[in-house]
Amino acid sequence: MKRLSSVFVLVLFALVAVGSVFASGQGESDAPLVGVAMPTQSSQRWIQDGNYMKQALEERGYRVDLQYAEDNIDAQVSQIENMIVKGADVLVIAAIDGASLTNVLQQAADNDVSVISYDRLIINTPNVDYYATFDNFQVGVLQGGYIVDALDLESGAGPFNIELFAGSPDDTNAYYFFDGAMSELQPYIDNGQLVVPSGQTDFDQVATLRWDGATAQQRMDNILAAYYTDREVDAVLSPYDGLSIGILSALKSVGYGEGGKELPIVTGQDAEVPSVKSILAGEQTSTVFKDTRVLADRAANMVDAVLQGTEPEINDTETYDNGVFVVPSYLESPVSVDINNWEEVLIDSGYYTREDLGL
Ligand code: GAL
Repeated sequence: MKRLSSVFVLVLFALVAVGSVFASGQGESDAPLVGVAMPTQSSQRWIQDGNYMKQALEERGYRVDLQYAEDNIDAQVSQIENMIVKGADVLVIAAIDGASLTNVLQQAADNDVSVISYDRLIINTPNVDYYATFDNFQVGVLQGGYIVDALDLESGAGPFNIELFAGSPDDTNAYYFFDGAMSELQPYIDNGQLVVPSGQTDFDQVATLRWDGATAQQRMDNILAAYYTDREVDAVLSPYDGLSIGILSALKSVGYGEGGKELPIVTGQDAEVPSVKSILAGEQTSTVFKDTRVLADRAANMVDAVLQGTEPEINDTETYDNGVFVVPSYLESPVSVDINNWEEVLIDSGYYTREDLGL
């Protein structure tokens, strides 16, 4: 019996040796493996992020394992576990819930796998190397500032009615967006030029779990029914296009946008196709464009540096405290887009074709 099993082990060794010679003969299995974990395909932006990320990494000679978790936290954790088991050298992660990866990233660290936090900050762990994102506070400043300009608040106009929406409370970005927007809006709420009839102004009251458009639509329905029977909405702060579309549906369902009842100013973010179409149709007012090609390239450069044992370029070492340490970050620049500059920003840059927008 003993002899039989050692023969078996020998045969197995031989097979593995032949197998690996064969595999390395194929060449590409020698290339480092990068696991890319994206949150969901339900939003166009993450599909673009994933595609550009894959392309940017493959161009640099790496193998890529790209996974989407459809906003299911456990699924994302097990996808990351699988990447570690498959021998990933670096992980690029856009977290669904920034606080849920502490254990799996400990496994990554135990296996010497480096981690780049992508767009969203991963918190409560020392096991993140770098953060590639946009200036998230500035995104909010652009959204709030857009409303200030559109209502001409600086010249003392008003009072105007506004309602506020924020993003998902498990995504630190949502707080930066909201704080940035409120840095612009709060002075006008304080002096009475902006009025919030619902009275809902705290982050916890206005947050939208998982950035879900249907949840935002429901909340807007409720606000309209409870607080707007005898007044009209002039502006809605929306942090993300998926919410803006839901908010606009709620508004249209009670008659805004027809018969002289103008739609309010509605902001957004990501320049997703349905929202750009909505801007062209005169419904959504603005969005904030964050070029996913630029972010993917930035993250791919970070991966490159990590794998070559050099330091990636960083432009912020103060802002993104993840509860354990301040994660060295690179912040790209967001751009406000509306009916006046969409063509220059989105078409001339090659981000979309006119056909993509149904034109
Ligand atoms: C945020 C991201 C936004 C938007 C939102 C919903 O983390 O920064 O651009 O995409 O998630 O997906």
